[in-house]
Amino acid sequence: MRTASALTLVLMVGLPLSCRIPPAVTAPPSESLQSVSPFPVGVAVGSDLLEKDRAYRAVVLKEYGSVTPENAAKIECLHPQADRFDFLDFDRIVAFALENGKRVHGVALIWHDSSGLEWLKDFQGDTAAWERMFKTHIQTVVGHYRGKVRSWDVVNEALNDDGTLRMDDDSATDHLGSIWARHLGTDYIARAFRYAHEADPGALLFYNDFNLKDAAKPAKIEAVVAMAEDFKRRGIPIHGLGMQMHIGVSADDDGIVGGMRRLATTGLLVHISELDILASDWKKDAGLAYSDELQQRQSDKYRFIAQAYKRSVPPRQRYGITVWGVGDAVTWINSNFGLQDWPLPFDRDYRRKKAYDGFLEGLKR
Ligand code: XIL
Repeated sequence: MRTASALTLVLMVGLPLSCRIPPAVTAPPSESLQSVSPFPVGVAVGSDLLEKDRAYRAVVLKEYGSVTPENAAKIECLHPQADRFDFLDFDRIVAFALENGKRVHGVALIWHDSSGLEWLKDFQGDTAAWERMFKTHIQTVVGHYRGKVRSWDVVNEALNDDGTLRMDDDSATDHLGSIWARHLGTDYIARAFRYAHEADPGALLFYNDFNLKDAAKPAKIEAVVAMAEDFKRRGIPIHGLGMQMHIGVSADDDGIVGGMRRLATTGLLVHISELDILASDWKKDAGLAYSDELQQRQSDKYRFIAQAYKRSVPPRQRYGITVWGVGDAVTWINSNFGLQDWPLPFDRDYRRKKAYDGFLEGLKR
């Protein structure tokens, strides 16, 4: 990509303005992911980059109709100490979104992965004290953003791959349990939805998880569907289901389509909530080259996801597709897993990639 950009620069020198060719873009510059899409297309963002990096901000402004705070609405950011909330970071994202007519989807009120947070880990108290703290967290946050944040992932990743409730840690397999389930009991998910709904009856409430494929091992997706049906029967306010979609270029297409269809049978909204497509297929390979062939396969997969969503989820249930990061320079895949990958539609300099072209085409057709 860097080579291509240097070459483009050389070519541009001396050309009259009207002849300048935009770098590596086949889609007309007037089009954007959001402008061609029949449903919202969103992106996960961070407040600092949004304010300080002009290229990053320009992509968000032009290409996307919805934003999700990548981390700013998680408990460790919003509620850093037991008795202190700090809304500054997420407030900046919400202000940006509202000024620019973007929808905001909040992520995530309750997530087991926050258990590294010192005050939470050390929280003392009986079941009633845990319940008060849990309710206070949810209602303080949702209440603060009432009428501004359109939707929330209320609980994230609460189930194991075998469909059971995430509960205990297992050091042998590095499996993280849920501090919430251990202290609050098995029905805590339903109560989280009730509390969130009380704090903002207008907000749309989602359950979000990964590995929701309807393939060889359907246990997890079946458990999500069963939970949604149970909530509907009990009058628990749930409005949608989120499929994360952190996949590799070789991910199984049938499993993905089956998963989308199965979630749609609930009649709830379906959100592809955290899309990125790894060239590495999640394998550590320091020598991996981002070849033309790999770029093409990734582009095809982006196109496929957009088309599969349209084929599998009826229009009124399409909450949209959210991409997990603005460009390859800032993807969590590299920072969190020590991988070298290029999983997003924009490159390290925020220019459109082949992946962008495939995604755009899939959204259009
Ligand atoms: C990730 C962020 O992208 C990282 O910056 C952070 O260090 C960890 O969380 N599933 C989710 C997201 O639901 O909230 C996670 O986001 C990625 C996996």
